[in-house]
Amino acid sequence: MKSTPTIIPFSICIILTAAAASAADPKASLTEWQTYNGDYGGTHYSALDQINRSNVKQLKVAWTWHTGDQGNQIECNPIIVDGVMYVTTPRLHVAALNAATGEVIWRFDPWQGGRGGGINRGVAYWTDGKGDQRIFHSAGNYLYALDAKAGKPIPTFGDNGRISHRDGFDTDVFYLSVGNNTPGIVWKDLLILGSTTGEGPQPCAPGHIRAFDVRTGKRKWIFHTIPQPGEFGYKTWLPDSWKKVGSANVWNGFTLDAERGIVFMGTGSAAYDSWGGNRIGQDWFANCTLALDANTGKRLWHFQAVHHDLQDYDLSTPPVLARLERDGKIIDCVVQPTKMGHLFVLDRVTGEPLFPIEELPVPQSDMPGEQSWPTQPFPPKEFRLAKQGFTTNDVTDLNPAAHEFALNELKRIRPAPIFTASGFVPHGVLPQFNGGCEWGGAAFDPEDNTVIVNVSDEAEWTSMIPTKPTERLSLNELGKHTYQGVCSFCHGTSSPLNPASPSLKDVSKRLTKEQVLTLMQTGRGQMPSFAAFSELEKRAVISFLFDEGYGEMIEVKDLNLSFANDIPVVMTGHHDWRDPEGFPLNKRPWGTLNAVDLDKGKVKWSVPLGTYPKLEARGEPPTGTFNLGGPVVTKGGLVFIGAAMDERFHAYDKDTGKLLWEYQMEFGGYATPATYEVDGRQYVVIAAGGGGKTFTKPGDMYYCFALPK
Ligand code: HEC
Repeated sequence: MKSTPTIIPFSICIILTAAAASAADPKASLTEWQTYNGDYGGTHYSALDQINRSNVKQLKVAWTWHTGDQGNQIECNPIIVDGVMYVTTPRLHVAALNAATGEVIWRFDPWQGGRGGGINRGVAYWTDGKGDQRIFHSAGNYLYALDAKAGKPIPTFGDNGRISHRDGFDTDVFYLSVGNNTPGIVWKDLLILGSTTGEGPQPCAPGHIRAFDVRTGKRKWIFHTIPQPGEFGYKTWLPDSWKKVGSANVWNGFTLDAERGIVFMGTGSAAYDSWGGNRIGQDWFANCTLALDANTGKRLWHFQAVHHDLQDYDLSTPPVLARLERDGKIIDCVVQPTKMGHLFVLDRVTGEPLFPIEELPVPQSDMPGEQSWPTQPFPPKEFRLAKQGFTTNDVTDLNPAAHEFALNELKRIRPAPIFTASGFVPHGVLPQFNGGCEWGGAAFDPEDNTVIVNVSDEAEWTSMIPTKPTERLSLNELGKHTYQGVCSFCHGTSSPLNPASPSLKDVSKRLTKEQVLTLMQTGRGQMPSFAAFSELEKRAVISFLFDEGYGEMIEVKDLNLSFANDIPVVMTGHHDWRDPEGFPLNKRPWGTLNAVDLDKGKVKWSVPLGTYPKLEARGEPPTGTFNLGGPVVTKGGLVFIGAAMDERFHAYDKDTGKLLWEYQMEFGGYATPATYEVDGRQYVVIAAGGGGKTFTKPGDMYYCFALPK
């Protein structure tokens, strides 16, 4: 830092108090990036200013690293401790790199040479300050505690260095899928951990929050996000919901007020996330900003951003710790971005809104057994950063052919306002279930109390079908029905919805029927087991996937579909919605970067984030694109962000939103960057894993930039 700021940046206060609070906390650092999203507050802020507005154009690649494996998008936000960078790879290996050179120090393969993978956003670090240093990493069903120096599991932790994510739930989730893809947060000697659970119509594990002892792996506390009889919030569900309904999980990490010992998080929707007839009510603590006592897991306050969610509008990021000045007073707050593109600003201690929140009427579902909630909370208009629904006015004007095509599509797929629940008639959804704001979250600049946040604005469409077909159908049709009702949830109906799950269109060319049957029986990685399927259902799915012709006819009245349990309708999927050239069917911009001044309650600037190179070549100004991965804001006056589908790494002026520099990477950077200093030199690093939900090519790289020596 060159000068002493008049106000100590908030993130620095946090780090200093964190260091004072306990020697066991990650070492305080203003020049490194020791926790996911930069600091406990998740501010994505760095006080480094060697790279700044005046010299950013000279930024060069300092080093790159190829992970050498391919599979999933790399969504990792690297952490840097004592000059060592800890990253994850597409197949969920962990690597320790020399942060100045990119040289590999060690590499850990949780699969021990076997096959495996999944989404992962990074690791968590803990030290006792006396030489015991640990890296916590999730892969498959397990959480590993690795020795940060040697990269080996620590035998005294859990079962030989690992614990199962299925442990410590208070209920048996042995047959259910539970993993974790975003690092937990270290608080004193606890690792506070969320989970990924199923979200489909099949039974799913509940998304309770747990804290584990960093030394032993023993569970220390649990908070039931789906309350059990007698617990606060239980009455916001049906009496039996807690036994039948799952999820309401924290899959995107935590933030922490170390001074007050409060841990914050955003929870996902309850499962099944497209129909809630078995969970009538507001469904606390699904879709909530939650504040818990970090020592005990006791609830302090909550704010529900979506009541009785039917659209998979998870709170996809933890709230960022921020502050604002009002009438000469500094107020500590949290800012919760949502998939709806809303920003909710809440008092950090009480949860009271600092800008008015209105309950507005929303369209009601007409699905059998459903009872949608009549209203939803909305922040002031200035804080609604994404398009709020798809109307006929939103039809693309990219060119006459695209416009014509889109108008024609609207004969099949109806336009609809925000919060329209899926029905039998397909409708356009904006913001789509990937946001709005996604897991990349927001940055907070403590120098001028400004939130920097990226938003996507590409529409999708959805629809529902009954789980029970009518009258008679063939074995093959039953298979298609089962596929749409269960498998399509991950494997998709056009392209895969979950990047980890391969398309099954040509599975018959890759695998034998026996192999597919075995896989359905056992599950693998994030693929749940379907052992509960009847023989008929299994045969039907095989008949469909292997295109075996119609097969025998089945009377629907004789059917007892195991997957449907009490769920009468399922979603056909989140369908991509594009013109014949592949561009979104709604008007530009398709993605934006925004700066919101919390003191004034106003958007300072909003610019398109990235562009489609094909349109750029035709002379179109930047269109913005769907984006994944968050921003970093620095004292040097810059906002660094990849995220867009142009596969570029961008630097914007944080005061004006002007694009100052960009670098064409080989693969898309769908991850949040990190910035740090080693031996007096500032670096900026970003994972470039491409692929995933973005239709750009998959890759395996990390890019690290610095000014020339
Ligand atoms: C919750 C998400 C999810 C659901 C639901 C799901 N799968 Fe999967 N599936 C996956 C994932 C993830 C993989 C990749 C597993 C791995 O890491 O090896 C996979 C892999 C597979 C494969 C192997 C593909 C290959 O090329 O190796 C088959 C076959 C398959 N699934 C069939 C099904 C069928 C049939 C259903 C429905 C009955 C289904 N899956 C439902 C997530 C899912």
